[in-house]
Amino acid sequence: MFQSKIAGLGYYVPKNVYTNNDLTRFMETSDEWIQERTGIKERRYADRIGETTTSMAVEASKIAIERANTTAEEIDFVIFATLSPDYYFPGCGVLLQREMGMKEIGALDVRNQCSGFVYALSIADQFIKTGMYKNILVVGSEKHSFALDFSTRGRAVSVIFGDGAGAVVLQPTTEEGKGILSTHLHSDGADAEKLAMYFPGASAGYYLEEMPKWPDVELGEMLMTKEMLEDGSAFPYMDGQAVFKKAVVKFPEVIGEALAKNNLKSTDIDMLIPHQANLRISQFVQKTLGLGDDQVFNNIQKYGNTTAASVPIALCEAWEQGKIKDGDLVCLAAFGAGFTWGSALIRW
Ligand code: ACO
Repeated sequence: MFQSKIAGLGYYVPKNVYTNNDLTRFMETSDEWIQERTGIKERRYADRIGETTTSMAVEASKIAIERANTTAEEIDFVIFATLSPDYYFPGCGVLLQREMGMKEIGALDVRNQCSGFVYALSIADQFIKTGMYKNILVVGSEKHSFALDFSTRGRAVSVIFGDGAGAVVLQPTTEEGKGILSTHLHSDGADAEKLAMYFPGASAGYYLEEMPKWPDVELGEMLMTKEMLEDGSAFPYMDGQAVFKKAVVKFPEVIGEALAKNNLKSTDIDMLIPHQANLRISQFVQKTLGLGDDQVFNNIQKYGNTTAASVPIALCEAWEQGKIKDGDLVCLAAFGAGFTWGSALIRW
């Protein structure tokens, strides 16, 4: 049985910075409201044309591959986590395989939203452990800005999200006690409609029943129409308070599960990288676990919530800033739509 380690990591964020004040050009909001509720000061948006979920992933992957001292031709499997794929199908994994000039390797898309990267990492870890693959590229990338409602009606959702990509290369290690110690994955579909984008979806007619905010949309209407753009039902929906309440319970629970599995306690964590959902959620989790400011990394202030990209972007930035050192105990944790949640404990 092999143990897997992160051999290289990289991230990419688009050049276009949108501050909270910039958003006041499109909607009624304020820097004060956004910072107080979410901690976000600014976020990045990809170019409308020419910059895609896959193209951002390419940039992050190039850095991760180079830092892992390998090449795109040597990657033997790719896992791509995203909720904003370039196409409804095929997935972004194959687009990345094509754009990077990889061999005819397996490519898998993971659709687990904010916890997508942790799920993808866990899958990659299993493939390394069994010896099936030796050089896996794991990516999280999102272009949210193409599908947000930037009018006042959509402000509670749209101010939160940003675009970007992060990537890691996973390889086997023979160093005793190093690498990914364990991963833990969970879901509960009971609240699936509380954080969702219903269109395009083959079961859209069914889910319309659950959409109290848009009573005028006919049940059974399957295709996205101009009217749906106008009434808001084409855009992501979030019951913010339900998300908050569940996240502040499930984050500490799944981190605790990882620690217990490895006979460790929260004070042993050198760096917690929580999914950058909302600074208030991260602070709540930090307090619950009794962690100091130097044990938790947050960068939502600069990038907003980049969903599947948030954990690898934050992990890479923390590492680049020297906040993760050899031998450190690093914990990744995520919670998001589904609801799905997970954690990974890594000895760096
Ligand atoms: N700017 C100004 N006012 C706003 C904005 C905005 N961007 N958005 C909503 N408001 C207004 C509302 O219209 C409402 O006004 P009203 O009282 O006149 O009706 C008021 O602010 C309060 O609205 P609520 O929706 O009740 O606001 P709440 O205090 O719950 O904050 C928020 C909303 C920030 C989304 C909060 O529920 C929250 O933090 N939820 C957690 C959700 C989250 O973090 N999601 C991250 C994405 S999912 C994930 O990654 C797991």
